[in-house]
Amino acid sequence: MRLNLATVAVAFLAATVIGLEVQKARRPPPPPPPQAAMRAAPVPAAAPAQIARATDETPDDLPDGKGRDETFYLCTACHGTAIIRQQGMPRERWDESFDWMIEKHRMPDPGAADRALIVDYLASSFPPRQQRGRANPFLNR
Ligand code: HEC
Repeated sequence: MRLNLATVAVAFLAATVIGLEVQKARRPPPPPPPQAAMRAAPVPAAAPAQIARATDETPDDLPDGKGRDETFYLCTACHGTAIIRQQGMPRERWDESFDWMIEKHRMPDPGAADRALIVDYLASSFPPRQQRGRANPFLNR
């Protein structure tokens, strides 16, 4: 009887350990953190405006205005319009963003005339947001 109990206890422990190992082995590897995924995503280098779009949006996804189409076709070579629409900045900061896209992300420079057109469009379509209701102390815009 005593022997049987010990055998049962050992068998039970062994089964538990094996069960845990099997569970561990079945567990899928954790997904990569979103930051890493973003970094790993290939950025098309200097894609001409008419070739591969990074989005299936159309110019209508941007608010109407002079320079909208030029802005759409230049900027959506690499990303959708949401990343642009969520911004609200004075013209000076849009101008800096433009340089940043060229220098850091190798956006093709469209030349002075188109640049002025596009930065004007961005500045008038996405100006700094007015503070509505309570101000968010963590947003320094
Ligand atoms: C050649 C590729 C490329 C083109 C073209 C491009 N961008 Fe970007 N842009 C990026 C990448 C990549 C990021 C992701 C943010 C990062 O990691 O720097 C980004 C991020 C941004 C952001 C977010 C910045 C932030 O603070 O989060 C804004 C705004 C932006 N782009 C605006 C524009 C505008 C406006 C245009 C067109 C004039 C444009 N981009 C064209 C590559 C590009």
